[in-house]
Amino acid sequence: MYQLIYQSIRSVDLDATALRRIVAESSDRNAERGITGVLLLQGNTIMQVLEGPEDNVRAVYDRIRKDRRHHGCVVLFSRQTGRRSFDEWRMGFCEVDDDGVDHFRMTISALRARQMQVAKGPRRKIAS
Ligand SMILES: Cc1cc2nc3c(=O)[nH]c(=O)nc-3n(C[C@H](O)[C@H](O)[C@H](O)COP(=O)(O)O)c2cc1C
Repeated sequence: MYQLIYQSIRSVDLDATALRRIVAESSDRNAERGITGVLLLQGNTIMQVLEGPEDNVRAVYDRIRKDRRHHGCVVLFSRQTGRRSFDEWRMGFCEVDDDGVDHFRMTISALRARQMQVAKGPRRKIAS
């Protein structure tokens, strides 16, 4: 199971209604590929969590980032994970305010910090 979170900037005509439509249209496609997640819109900023089998997540992200309805895609976070965070939602959609997106960013920072700790590993005593 692989989780990827990216951020992008919506194009002018991609409003909440149009995004909701994209999410609805993607629903079957995502379900067929075992992809769940959530898409957040805050002002002009889009954040989307994609989770599922790694090859499928990478393939869908590759399609999404080439989509001209938004631009400036950057991956904020990605990890291998044992379980889904959004297993009840094929792909949820939320329009959030500043607090909502700040909260989400803090969660991502915390996850990154934990990932760095895991990468470093526990301190080992050097035998003398
Ligand atoms: C912000 C945003 C999020 C999207 N999310 C998904 C998604 O979760 N799943 C999906 O299949 N397509 C998603 N799409 C649509 C894809 O970019 C693409 O149009 C769609 O997969 C059809 O691809 P195709 O034209 O190459 O067949 C999203 C598009 C945008 C702009």
